[in-house]
Amino acid sequence: MGSSLGCCDSEKVEEAGFAVGGGNSTPWRIFTYKELHAATNGFSEDYKLGEGGFGSVYWGKTSDGLQIAVKKLKSMNSKAEMEFAVEVEVLGRVRHKNLLGLRGYCAGDDQRLIVYDYMPNLSLLSHLHGQFAGESQLDWKKRMKIVLGSAEGLLYLHHEVSPHIIHRDIKASNVLLDSNFEPLVADFGFAKLIPEGVSHMTTRVKGTLGYLAPEYAMWGKVSESCDVYSFGILLLEIVTGRKPIEKLPGGVKRTITEWAEPLITKGRFKNLVDPKLRGNFDENQLIQTINIAALCVQSEFEKRPTMKEVVGLLKGYEPKTKPMRLNSVRYGEDLMSLDQASDENSDINEDESSVYGVFGALESQKIHDPYKRYGDRRMNRNL
Ligand SMILES: Nc1ncnc2c1ncn2[C@@H]1O[C@H](COP(=O)(O)OP(=O)(O)OP(=O)(O)O)[C@@H](O)[C@H]1O
Ligand SMILES: [Mg+2]
Repeated sequence: MGSSLGCCDSEKVEEAGFAVGGGNSTPWRIFTYKELHAATNGFSEDYKLGEGGFGSVYWGKTSDGLQIAVKKLKSMNSKAEMEFAVEVEVLGRVRHKNLLGLRGYCAGDDQRLIVYDYMPNLSLLSHLHGQFAGESQLDWKKRMKIVLGSAEGLLYLHHEVSPHIIHRDIKASNVLLDSNFEPLVADFGFAKLIPEGVSHMTTRVKGTLGYLAPEYAMWGKVSESCDVYSFGILLLEIVTGRKPIEKLPGGVKRTITEWAEPLITKGRFKNLVDPKLRGNFDENQLIQTINIAALCVQSEFEKRPTMKEVVGLLKGYEPKTKPMRLNSVRYGEDLMSLDQASDENSDINEDESSVYGVFGALESQKIHDPYKRYGDRRMNRNL
């Protein structure tokens, strides 16, 4: 895919290529603004699927009957344009059955839109905590399929795309589900292409608090192992049906690891399982999944497994892991107060949260970096 962005208003299809979505090779192309405007009924509120850090997503139907999801990016400052160019470039390279590929895009003077295939079962979030949560469609088998598929999508980003891609925003709303509940990891808007040989990048902290690796949340240290941490949180969420951060009566916030740690320590694995499963789960798979999650969420990032190892463990290629303790992480109160996901009726206004999500106002370099002061000393469990 070329890096020059075509103009939305042009009726002419200037560039095209192939991307993979849901396991099929599907052509991508440039859409005109007019076409997307018509497909989404003028970006009507009724067609809105949701809103994320970068803008709103609308359901639509093209004149040839294709159901699409159109992400309309909100801020058109130069940074947003850059982010858009990055995402388009990244999506153009990515081809895997568990990654949501590009269907097309539209770029004009003041508009940036990305077009994906519409995923009829929406996101994992909608099944765990959203509009489908009451329907209990996610049985154990489906959950395990979602776990393995999303791990494979992530493995592809980390180990098979060149240069490697760190997703940086692994979370339930970014795992979309096709009609067979096959998971497709979406949204590479935060991803940066990693030059070969570079394993860390210090950058502005972005993302959603509950999934953020402590070293990333506090000091902006980015590496593949940040995604591994987020994946571990996702595993716990899929198995337990709990949110990464819960707001308890009285307003205190608790992370999922804080909740799970004592149960795991006491070996009370069955108490961890989502009650919606009504006891229908495979106990061996449960213990193995919890153990893998425990490996992934270790505070010491160099001890976390790679996604290749995670997939090996999930498929049973690697020997079963020994039951291990889970490291619970508590973010500092300053970070906890920025968390929006656990606030049902969050009154943080959009300008404050900005296009960068909950950490819009947080510059990583303003946070004390223990690596600088203490050299290689391990970080404290309690942040
Ligand atoms: N292709 C798609 N098919 C169906 N639903 C989608 C599709 N793409 C996005 N969505 C849903 O639209 C909503 C908004 O998505 P968006 O990516 O903007 O926000 P998010 O995933 O909550 O946060 P982030 O900006 O960090 O990715 C989410 O609930 C998402 O699951
Ligand atoms: Mg998203």
